[in-house]
Amino acid sequence: MWNYTDKLKEYFTNPRNVGEIENPDGIGEVGSLACGDALKFMFKLDQNQRIKEAKFQTFGCASAIASASALTEMVMGKTTEEALKITNRDIADYLGGLPEEKMHCSVMGREALEAAIATYRGQKVEKGEFEVVCNCFGVTDREIAHAIRENDLKTVEQVTHYTKAGGGCGKCHPKIEAIIEKVRKEMEKEAPPPKPEKKKLTNIQKIKLIEETLGREIIPALKADGGDLDLIDIEGNKVLVALRGSCSFCPSAEITLKQYVETKLREFVSDDIVVEEVRP
Ligand code: FES
Repeated sequence: MWNYTDKLKEYFTNPRNVGEIENPDGIGEVGSLACGDALKFMFKLDQNQRIKEAKFQTFGCASAIASASALTEMVMGKTTEEALKITNRDIADYLGGLPEEKMHCSVMGREALEAAIATYRGQKVEKGEFEVVCNCFGVTDREIAHAIRENDLKTVEQVTHYTKAGGGCGKCHPKIEAIIEKVRKEMEKEAPPPKPEKKKLTNIQKIKLIEETLGREIIPALKADGGDLDLIDIEGNKVLVALRGSCSFCPSAEITLKQYVETKLREFVSDDIVVEEVRP
């Protein structure tokens, strides 16, 4: 038995926006009944080119119904550019998560959205443009590569969970392995270089750098808003400060300390800096 979240169960038992839209602006159909699940997703735009209505019809399991239902809510009010940024992971997160074996339902939702927007834009994508890698489930190399990238997949089993490819006779496993290897090599090349490690500082160097960072980066910004800050003491990684001017009675003082002062000191001095306020 799958471990479904309460939200997923609720979206399955009370699906939102089921049905059809008359004269939709975009319509996308993915999957096939022969392969076990299929989804038709459609939307209509308002005069500001934002999605004002989205509906779906599906032949699928509880996760497919809940994923499609979630998608219709997630796209509401978005432009097509904004809607295209929704990933299958976003759909799963919206439902509080999906069992890994059911992630292909969220992928089907994202593909239907992509297909609907492509038809709206007049970009007809024929499946024949891509190689069908898994004949049991009609999954193309493009769909597999997309799922690997978007979900950081590493094994054939994961690809099966996210796309269904490989979940039948198994003849396509070598091809899926080759795609995983190729895509992961490309991902490694594209990954940004790791951040250089911060140099280990002596206590004297650390104190000096804290003072410099306060003077150069932090205090001028606080002063610009009528506030100020005094450095009171430094105990190891703990930086004790007193807020002055408008900062001293600001209701967001704690946020300023943590999200601005502490973040800046961590950026320029050391990742383990903790800033605390000393009150008179
Ligand atoms: S061809 Fe992929 S599982 Fe059969």
